[in-house]
Amino acid sequence: MILSGKAILITGASRGIGAAVAKRLSRAGADVALCGRDKTALEATKRDCEGEGARVALLPGDIRDVAYAAGLAENAFGALGRLDAVVNSAGVFVTGPAQDADLAEWDQALDVNFRAWMHLTRRALPILMRQPESAVVNLCSIAGRTTFPGGGIYTATKHAVHAWSNCLFDDVRDKGVKVCAIYPGYVNTDMAAHVPGDHDNMIQPDDVAQTVEFALRLPATSCPTEIVLRPQRPL
Ligand SMILES: NC(=O)c1ccc[n+]([C@@H]2O[C@H](COP(=O)([O-])OP(=O)(O)OC[C@H]3O[C@@H](n4cnc5c(N)ncnc54)[C@H](OP(=O)(O)O)[C@@H]3O)[C@@H](O)[C@H]2O)c1
Repeated sequence: MILSGKAILITGASRGIGAAVAKRLSRAGADVALCGRDKTALEATKRDCEGEGARVALLPGDIRDVAYAAGLAENAFGALGRLDAVVNSAGVFVTGPAQDADLAEWDQALDVNFRAWMHLTRRALPILMRQPESAVVNLCSIAGRTTFPGGGIYTATKHAVHAWSNCLFDDVRDKGVKVCAIYPGYVNTDMAAHVPGDHDNMIQPDDVAQTVEFALRLPATSCPTEIVLRPQRPL
């Protein structure tokens, strides 16, 4: 896909990976629709993207609200006049032993990390299919390929995204829609702030953004359905 003039909806764009993706795709010439709850942080991402020359639509809200999540693609299309790709990045990291789980937190993880993605993407696909080339990029995790103690709900949501992404690809591949899941290890964002070690040795948010750009730019004949990213250096 040639990114110049394309319109891309990015969730979790107020900070972390989503904000880095928004900036990088703006630099590549795309216009962006940005989602998240923190309006002040979203405004900061907007300024960065506009500085790169992008047109920016701000669509703030809580993605746990199904009506909001399901309406995002139509609203991005309305604001930017087209929609070529969706990058699902909004997420929460909830861990702890299953026997002590706060079920409200587990519900939150399911809602933010999977249910919202499902509702957003379901409504986005018919819009994306109007373009000859389009894409859905899902920020999964290495936790979508493994398990770890206390990781019950987080790994479950990411395994769900892993399975769902591959099924989506089979459903829409002949409609010109790429579906790519990216599986990073620790990325240096707020989500990994609790992790001991040298955070400069983690994957950096812009490394993930470059991976998203790579997936989008590949020719129409190829789709990187799964990309695993691991930190090159030990933490
Ligand atoms: N960091 C890592 O080590 C790592 C590794 C592998 C995969 N991932 C995945 O990558 C994605 C991005 O993670 P990150 O590291 O960028 O995390 P982050 O820095 O904590 O950012 C999380 C983003 O999700 C948004 N979000 C959370 N709850 C929301 C809600 N209820 N409604 C709307 N937006 C919500 C936040 O926006 P607001 O707070 O403004 O709502 C924020 O923009 C996640 O899906 C995560 O699971 C992260």
